[in-house]
Amino acid sequence: MSGQPADGGLDLLIVGDCNPDVLVLGDDVTPAFGQQEKIVASMALVIGGSAAIMAVAASRLGLRVALCAAVGADPAGEFMLTQLAAEGVNTDAIVVRPGQATGMTVALSHGTDRAILTALGAMPTLTAADVDPALMARARYVHVSSYFLLERTLGPGLAALLERAQTAGATTSLDTNWDPAGLWGGDQLDGVLAATDLLLPNEAEARLISGEAVIGKAITALAARGPRVAVKRGALGARCFDGTGSWLVRPPDDPVVDATGAGDCFDAGVIAGLLRGQGLAEAVRLGCAVGTASTRGAGGTSAAPSLAAALEEAERVRVTRAED
Ligand SMILES: Nc1ncnc2c1ncn2[C@@H]1O[C@H](COP(=O)(O)OP(=O)(O)OP(=O)(O)O)[C@@H](O)[C@H]1O
Ligand SMILES: [Mg+2]
Repeated sequence: MSGQPADGGLDLLIVGDCNPDVLVLGDDVTPAFGQQEKIVASMALVIGGSAAIMAVAASRLGLRVALCAAVGADPAGEFMLTQLAAEGVNTDAIVVRPGQATGMTVALSHGTDRAILTALGAMPTLTAADVDPALMARARYVHVSSYFLLERTLGPGLAALLERAQTAGATTSLDTNWDPAGLWGGDQLDGVLAATDLLLPNEAEARLISGEAVIGKAITALAARGPRVAVKRGALGARCFDGTGSWLVRPPDDPVVDATGAGDCFDAGVIAGLLRGQGLAEAVRLGCAVGTASTRGAGGTSAAPSLAAALEEAERVRVTRAED
């Protein structure tokens, strides 16, 4: 059950995906078919799913956070509920689907790059009707993760849901993540973007959703559809457009253990900054600090920092105005 009192206010409601990750780490993690057995450096069962990782990162940053997602009635779902509650995330709005499997990911990683296999399980059964209106009414901020994985079920009611959140006074944001179908939106996404205050794609996603190859143009095109935009650029940091101009935000070049979940930790940092009253560029600086800190440990959450550590880290992140 919840790690927070049921009647308290809520800083952040995250709607999205929740599944364990089996993380396979080593220099050579490429499977060899033909029934060959390979020994790898390590394997771990950890919190996965973009929304779940972000919820933990936000909780570490001191936000009161709830997660709405769908899991199956199985040990993988129980693992997620237990781990999230232990991290102080309110799990009351996680729907357990009897007879279905919890989604699961196997990530094969050798540092900065990784190959990912995912079974969606109950994950894409989530609909807008599963989001408790009372919970949403308590939230200062509503974020949606992994839109494309949930496009068919959550998608149809999402624009109206985000509009209701905005009307109730909440700020809204969206991280679509990758589109495995390769379609990258359409009319339904247009409606969702119109009700989104902040869009948080990575660079490849920004290009593919906008249809613009040049990143500056991609950001302008996305902003024209409604939201402010902050684009994640891996080791290069991020670039954001706040309505007045574009900013480049650059973390230091530190060694990376595993970049899984860096984007989700970045999202948590940006929202923590905005909820602290920071402007977008300064909040993106905090996002880069949280994302970069998260790359120093395996999995999405093992190195997600406290607010104090993230603020200290942010002092090492440079913000400059983009010239183009
Ligand atoms: N190799 C790296 N070195 C330093 N910082 C990194 C690195 N990778 C990611 N980060 C930090 O994390 C942030 C977000 O990471 P990234 O750009 O990989 O997002 P993403 O593509 O959305 O990731 P995800 O795979 O989690 O969806 C970056 O803006 C940066 O601050
Ligand atoms: Mg991402």
